[in-house]
Amino acid sequence: MTPVVAPFPLTRLRRTRKSAALRALTRQNTLTVHDLIWPVFVMDGTDASYDIPSMPGVKRLTVDRLVAAARDAAALGIPAICIFPYTDPALKTDCCSEAWNPDNLSNRAIRAIKDAVPEIAVMTDVALDPYNPDGHDGFVRNGHVVNDETVEALAKMAVEQARAGADILGPSDMMDGRIGAMRAACEAEGFRDVAILSYAAKYASAFYGPFRDAVGASGALKGDKKTYQMDPGNSDEALRLIHRDLMEGADMVMVKPGLPYLDICRLTKDQFGVPTYAYQVSGEYAMVKAAAANGWIDGDAVMFESLMAFKRAGCDGILSYFAMDVARALDA
Ligand code: PBG
Repeated sequence: MTPVVAPFPLTRLRRTRKSAALRALTRQNTLTVHDLIWPVFVMDGTDASYDIPSMPGVKRLTVDRLVAAARDAAALGIPAICIFPYTDPALKTDCCSEAWNPDNLSNRAIRAIKDAVPEIAVMTDVALDPYNPDGHDGFVRNGHVVNDETVEALAKMAVEQARAGADILGPSDMMDGRIGAMRAACEAEGFRDVAILSYAAKYASAFYGPFRDAVGASGALKGDKKTYQMDPGNSDEALRLIHRDLMEGADMVMVKPGLPYLDICRLTKDQFGVPTYAYQVSGEYAMVKAAAANGWIDGDAVMFESLMAFKRAGCDGILSYFAMDVARALDA
């Protein structure tokens, strides 16, 4: 489609900008509460929270407080919450068996939320990093993150999350073959309706730093994740990964990080026309918060503008730590 521009003064593009009413009528994209997935951090204990220093306004919550937070989110209309566990370091082992323990922290949180607030969709994180002393998303053998053994473990982990009541499985590990293995394992166990939102195009990014603080993985991480997460210079590879994951049974796909990879969001939507999500990651959140705290930008305005950018780039939804702030502002 070629945009039509008749010569001036037949066209004065300022006509449709002249008032709030005209701007509202001609606006192509809008952000609503239904576009949001809220990532949350859960920890052991009762009635407690811990402020994450590198993510001002974000807390780790105990399961009881997380349930209350999920109730608030659902009341505001947020459709989904995504759980990340802060695992007790004593439970981290090289065999990562806590990952598929039916009663691990994450699975207890899923069950508690689905019992108390069944209307909110619960999304999980499928990766070994919260359970691995190395901080890697897969098993480490002789200094290498091994693929196929990890995929078997991820499939077991996914099945336990589905059994706990998860609505959406979120494999964030970037191993090859994990989507097919998880889909087959879920079908075999009778979990036919659980959705998979694949972290399909996940880049090896420096924007994940504050998240690794939040889940207690930053100090532990030996080496980087460049042998499994994508090289920031690539875009064709993102489309191959997305195609591959869809063919293996993913229902929805994600691009991560968000704003620095909006081109990939647009390419994905145009090429595949599937439910497409972006993760506005911890570093993106922290940058906005830090600049706003210094009085250098208007934090709320930048929050809305950056989330709108995802809609313009073709995303159907955004995982964002701003979800509750946005929902409250839209509700006001
Ligand atoms: C790891 C995982 C990461 C994030 C989500 N899942 C970090 C990593 O890959 O090291 C990052 C999210 C964020 O930065 O907000 N499985």
